This record gives sequence, C-alpha cells and structure tokens, in this order.
Amino acid sequence: MPPRRHRSSRGFPFPSFRIRWPWTVHQINTQGGSVMGKYVIFDGMDGSGKGTQIDVLKERFVDTAVFTREPGGTPFAEEIRKIVRDNPLAERSTALGNLLLFFAAREELQHNLVAPMLRVGKHVFSDRGDSSTFAFQLCGEQHKELCSLFVDLRQLVFSGPGRRSPDLYVVFDLPAGIARERVMRDTSRATTHFDMRDLAYYERVREGFRAFASRIEAPVAFIDATLPREEVHNRVLEVLATKEIFPM
Ligand code: TYD
Repeated sequence: MPPRRHRSSRGFPFPSFRIRWPWTVHQINTQGGSVMGKYVIFDGMDGSGKGTQIDVLKERFVDTAVFTREPGGTPFAEEIRKIVRDNPLAERSTALGNLLLFFAAREELQHNLVAPMLRVGKHVFSDRGDSSTFAFQLCGEQHKELCSLFVDLRQLVFSGPGRRSPDLYVVFDLPAGIARERVMRDTSRATTHFDMRDLAYYERVREGFRAFASRIEAPVAFIDATLPREEVHNRVLEVLATKEIFPM
C-alpha cells in the first residue's frame, strides 16, 4: 500500500514527524497467513459518549470482537490503571511519568491480549489507545518535547512478532465546553484527577486528536458526538464497514 501524504496542521506547536508503520508485521502474522481480526481504537474526550457507544457495540459484536480498554485490559495492566488513574498520588505525576505508565500498560496489553486475539481472527475493539496519550499528555499537558519518545515507544509497542498497529481509529468529536458540561451533569461517573483541568486543557486535547490524525498513516474517522445517539451509532457502523467489520 503506498504511504499516504503527510497532511500539514498549521499552527500546531509540535515538530513535524511522520509515524512509519511496521508494514511487514502489519500484514503478515507469525504463521505467515493473512490476519483476519482488525484492531480498532475508539477515542475522544471524556463526555463524548464513547462509553455508551462501546456498550451498544458490545451487544452487536458479541461473538466476533474482544473488547478492552486503556489503560487496563489485562490483570497487570489493570493494576497500572489503578496507579495512574485512581491513586490520588498520581496527581503529582509528571506528563513524562504518565506517558511511561500508559505505555507500560499498553505494552502489557499488546503482548497478552491484542496480539493473541488478532492472531486467532478476533477483532479487538479498545476503549482508548495511543491516540489518548498523544492528545492528553503531549497536547493537553503541552509537552512537545515528548513527541520523539512517543514515536519511538509507539513503534516498539506495535512491532515485534505478531504485533499489529491499529487498523482504524474512531474519534468521538465534540466541542470541549459541551463535553465538560456532560461530565459535570453525569453524577454516576466517578471523578478522577483527569477531570480536574480547565477548559483550555480540554480544547487542546480536542485539537490533539486532530493533530494525531494528521500525523499517522492509519485512518482516523471523526464522528460528530453532538448528534443523537442512534445517528452516532449508525456512523460508527459505516466507518467499521470501510474495514469490512460488520455486526452479526
Ligand atoms: P476513564 O475513566 O477510563 O475515562 P473514560 O471513561 O472517559 O475513557 O479514565 C481514563 C483517563 O485516562 C481519561 O481521562 C483519559 C486518560 N488517559 C490519558 O491521559 N492518556 C492515555 O494514554 C490514556 C489511555 C488515558
């Protein structure tokens, strides 16, 4: 497949880079056969309705997809989740510290769940992924100096025997102000230290997803998350169909 042209994102304060995919690993599994499962990451701001959409997909793809999340998804990665997300001490962690913890959990998930499931032909649908690290740690927290580390770690985590880089990213997109209002209204949701930032932070996160999309070679589909729930769901199905992923 010829590489896509790098789209520019003027005004974005990060050095230009282009993530190269490990194509040989991507297209061939360790047995030398064709990989059947697809790896899809669903992402977006807190309050984007991502969780609700994933719940609907769980019913429709119950036999064909394995659902996971980041950080987490395996017993050990769930332990890292408890540290990075739920432990009050994590509030004092730096962007670099967080980035390393998220990648540690990601490496664990790739090794023990994503790669094995894709190998046996299951789709893997993940609630968040490396797109979140780019949007939150690099863009939200404004640490452009972590960009080259991000690229290197990403390359390592998605390459190696049986590893695959994501086939598709689906980003639920909406203005930061609306996302924040939704989060504040949702009393059922446990608040974490990630929820305590100002609006400008979430605006940078939103822009971060766009910057991520402009820098990678995998398709990133943005879906308007302000649309009615069913309409969003239909659009998700349309996007999945572009990768030949269909509900039962
Ligand atoms: P969670 O409660 O799972 O959020 P949501 O239900 O909205 O997905 O908490 C995960 C938090 O971790 C979320 O605020 C985003 C953040 N996060 C990062 O900052 N970087 C990352 O790489 C990942 C995967 C998540």
